[in-house]
Amino acid sequence: MRGIDKMVEGTQTSSFGTSARINHDSSKFYNSKMYNGLNANKQDSFEKENIISKELLNRIFCASSETMKELPDHSVHLMITSPPYNVGKEYDKDLSLEEYLNLLRNVFKEVKRVLVTGGRVGINVANLGRKPYIPLHAHIIQIMSELGFLMRGEIIWDKSSSAGTSTAWGSWQSAKNPTLRDIHEYILIFSKDNYSRYKDKKKDTITKKDFMSFTKSIWTFSATSARKIGHPAPFPEELPKRLIELYSFEDDIVLDPFMGSGQTAIAAIKAKRNYIGYDIDENYCKLAEKRIKEEISQVKLS
Ligand SMILES: C[S@@+](CC[C@H](N)C(=O)[O-])C[C@H]1O[C@@H](n2cnc3c(N)ncnc32)[C@H](O)[C@@H]1O
Repeated sequence: MRGIDKMVEGTQTSSFGTSARINHDSSKFYNSKMYNGLNANKQDSFEKENIISKELLNRIFCASSETMKELPDHSVHLMITSPPYNVGKEYDKDLSLEEYLNLLRNVFKEVKRVLVTGGRVGINVANLGRKPYIPLHAHIIQIMSELGFLMRGEIIWDKSSSAGTSTAWGSWQSAKNPTLRDIHEYILIFSKDNYSRYKDKKKDTITKKDFMSFTKSIWTFSATSARKIGHPAPFPEELPKRLIELYSFEDDIVLDPFMGSGQTAIAAIKAKRNYIGYDIDENYCKLAEKRIKEEISQVKLS
């Protein structure tokens, strides 16, 4: 009987954790000193969303996303991107770490401006080098919290199933100087001002099976072939597809400020969302547009 009473009352934070969470009351945990002054919902109301005119939707702007002048404040629902890595790919400038982080800061500040209240961000990033290791993901988390974003979590993308895993293991079978070989990248997840989205009559499209799977913090799928896509650093379509299904509603607007080959746009079209992209390189804008056109004609045929 006591057990049933407890279930009706709901579980609470306890010294030894709780095995199952039912109507869980976590106020004790969030009232602890650890959480003092940390970002919580900044805004309980939802700012009015501005409408982006039809002519600006489903387009790629061939310009730097440091200024997204085409987009009004509070108008985009989800931002998905993988930033340039500044490691000498053909589109990379040779920026110092500080200059590079400033570029990202400028772009993410603009992203914050254009997102609706509760709008989400998914940033795919890999760390760099070994001597020393540059934890780009940690720098980005720092920038995003300075900009006032709410961090929701991080997904480890396990890409070990991809062909061609690095064999740069340093000193072979010796403690002299073994090197870690990264088989993962990060997808860092944030919200603007409120963890929740205003749903109203908007429609969810995720299946039960995908919801159970995508809410787990490790995602396993292969990388995609740069040669096949024609861009030096595309992410697989599976990556934006999962973020779109989990974090947006049908007909929402998905922004990629570093659009590259157009993978985010293609995933958005397939999931019945709108897209907007920016890329500074004319060749990649053309490539993305060509790939999107092909995708749309496939969708029409099917
Ligand atoms: C890692 S790639 C993105 C790849 C993309 N996720 C895909 O799947 O194809 C980064 C892209 O950012 C673009 N880029 C670099 N600086 C930029 C800037 N200031 N504004 C907009 N795009 C920029 C590059 O041209 C490159 O295509």
